[in-house]
Amino acid sequence: MSNKLKSAEVIHKYIKAFRCPHCESPFEVVDLKSLMCRNNHTFDLAKQGYVNLMSRPTKSHYHKELFEARKKIMMESDLYTLLHENLAKAIKEYSEHSHSPLFIFDAGCGEGSHLQKILDQCSEIPLQGIGLDISKDGIVMAAKNYKEPIWLVGDLAKSPIADQSIHVILNILSPSNYKEFKRILVSNGLVIKVVPGPNYLIELREALFGDTKKGMAKNEETEELFKKHFDLKDVISLSYTKELTPIEFKNLVQMSPLSWNLTKSDMDVLLKRDCSEITIDLKILIGRNH
Ligand SMILES: C[S@@+](CC[C@H](N)C(=O)[O-])C[C@H]1O[C@@H](n2cnc3c(N)ncnc32)[C@H](O)[C@@H]1O
Ligand SMILES: [Zn+2]
Repeated sequence: MSNKLKSAEVIHKYIKAFRCPHCESPFEVVDLKSLMCRNNHTFDLAKQGYVNLMSRPTKSHYHKELFEARKKIMMESDLYTLLHENLAKAIKEYSEHSHSPLFIFDAGCGEGSHLQKILDQCSEIPLQGIGLDISKDGIVMAAKNYKEPIWLVGDLAKSPIADQSIHVILNILSPSNYKEFKRILVSNGLVIKVVPGPNYLIELREALFGDTKKGMAKNEETEELFKKHFDLKDVISLSYTKELTPIEFKNLVQMSPLSWNLTKSDMDVLLKRDCSEITIDLKILIGRNH
């Protein structure tokens, strides 16, 4: 069965969980080829099996090479293993009190490896993953590599998800829209937001800027805002340093938005540095919808 047909069948099965991002009316699947709403807004399934729900292409700094480097780091190194273990644990604990299948929605999923890793670790629970990102390059890659989740190109601020259809939202190092998150979550649904701590990739920031504050979000404000919208259940801090091989370090540099403005020669100098240690410093905020 083709990827397109397989996705069309899964979307058809769970069609009530989706809605048109333009007019908010329900979708139906037409001829196992497209999604169409009551007002005839129509979105075709691509051959890789994803659906693009954006009305026009958006420019994104996140491009194919960055996502390829990101996938290599996530799938071939163990840099993010502890993160995946902690996220899977939170989902498993939540699943004990909830109905199945659980809908796990990764808002700003990039190329999809985090979602796939987490689903793999929760294989004993019935789950349906849905990954959404505004970058088409990211979603094309996700759909090519990971066949089980539903992959959507869309805007998390106007998501194509029906009210109260999602049990768990994952939001990993991506922007949030709490109003939307609350709308699509079931009551008592789980929201898991991962934010960088002050030492996240600090070696890279030191090498690039000589300034470790540059490029850092204000963590306290993020946590306060999260608490305004959700019942904060847990905050987990993960901080550790790993030794990377030169190839892993190259992938890390290429996957990071921190290196966006580097010239080719700056990049070459950076890659020749003897810097193989890297710090992961992440905060996991776990909340419940009221
Ligand atoms: C730092 S990346 C993180 C990606 C992925 N969660 C990861 O950790 O590898 C931020 C992601 O948010 C996506 N993004 C930014 N604004 C968005 C929006 N309004 N709707 C959906 N995705 C968005 C970007 O395209 C990008 O893939
Ligand atoms: Zn519509």
